[in-house]
Amino acid sequence: MRKRIVAGNWKMNLNNSDAQALFESLNSNKIVSSAEVVIAPPSLYLSEFASKKGQQICLAAQNCSDNDNGAYTGEVSASMLYSIGVKYCLVGHSERRQYQNESDVLLKQKVNVLLKNKVVPIFCCGESLDKRKSGDFFQVIQAQIENSLFHLTDSEIKEVVIAYEPIWAIGTGLTASSDQAQEIHAFIRALLVEKYSLQTAEEISILYGGSCKASNAKELFMNRDVDGGLIGGAALDLDSFLAIIESF
Ligand code: PGA
Repeated sequence: MRKRIVAGNWKMNLNNSDAQALFESLNSNKIVSSAEVVIAPPSLYLSEFASKKGQQICLAAQNCSDNDNGAYTGEVSASMLYSIGVKYCLVGHSERRQYQNESDVLLKQKVNVLLKNKVVPIFCCGESLDKRKSGDFFQVIQAQIENSLFHLTDSEIKEVVIAYEPIWAIGTGLTASSDQAQEIHAFIRALLVEKYSLQTAEEISILYGGSCKASNAKELFMNRDVDGGLIGGAALDLDSFLAIIESF
């Protein structure tokens, strides 16, 4: 069975004392869930969390450089992430696509450098409200996935986690309905079947993100093709995040 994952994306939130407190509470709580629990704090905190974390939490970075190492001031490399025990890295979050102008080509590079350094990419895709309204959202998602992932071999794509995050649902309180989420997740899996194989597609976890919270997580996660969530705002509150994790 493919892996279930609940990942909390802290984005650029929480100063040191609040970040430490949330991490300590999560780390010391006995989590009962069939999902793997991942947190993606600001990169500044990764090293310390890596040294303190127990078995039940995995770490993700929110971003990494598309280059291996070298003279790239301000950047963090995939090999550095791996060297401190970071398991995952977000790639192509819509906020980075929008504010940092990250292109499909750049994201492809990041996926490559992460896989080369044994860090699992959590590849984010999703359509804007305009594309949702115009009905072009299938094409948008297909292009994002084809342009940044479909150069990978069968064994490489199995190392990738995909997160569907409709932009209109991120931080807005608007959640895709359970049916809307399942429709896109099934569509993504069908693309994977067509390009690779049914067996490969069945091994790839596809997470939903966008105003996922304790009150809607169960309904979203019940879907056949929804293998977990990428949680923003609700991951900053211990009780909400735990409730989402325990929806599995
Ligand atoms: P949200 O963010 O849960 O606050 O909508 C999700 C995300 O951006 O990953």
